[in-house]
Amino acid sequence: MTSQWAVHRLPKSFRDERFLPERWLNTETKDLPRCATFRFGAGPRVCIAQSFAMMETTILLASITQRFEVECLPGPEILPCATMTLDRRLGVQVLLKIM
Ligand code: HEM
Repeated sequence: MTSQWAVHRLPKSFRDERFLPERWLNTETKDLPRCATFRFGAGPRVCIAQSFAMMETTILLASITQRFEVECLPGPEILPCATMTLDRRLGVQVLLKIM
């Protein structure tokens, strides 16, 4: 077993733990070792849908953000919950407003 939670937060790979999607657009993450992130696993059991999932997610996010304004509603603190995949303990409520 390997912990994505721990490996994806190693200070030697990432300068901080904040959610910074733009870190993937700049040179900060360009020279990371191959398994510094392994969202889709690695080795012989790697996810067979890795490319599909990345494309699907990009299209989904682009489609949603073109049509809706997404507002995070006030609620309980967002707490991680370790299951087969990383989940949120109490969910996250958002409001979608048609643009
Ligand atoms: C963001 C979406 C996804 C993530 C983060 C993800 C992640 C993973 C991970 C971590 C594994 C396990 C690798 C291991 O055992 O070490 C896996 C395996 C697998 N995934 Fe995904 N996955 C995603 C989407 C999908 C989709 C959409 C499909 C199918 C349409 C899929 C099909 C599979 C299959 C069949 C395996 C088993 C591969 C094997 O054991 O040989 N995944 N995935």
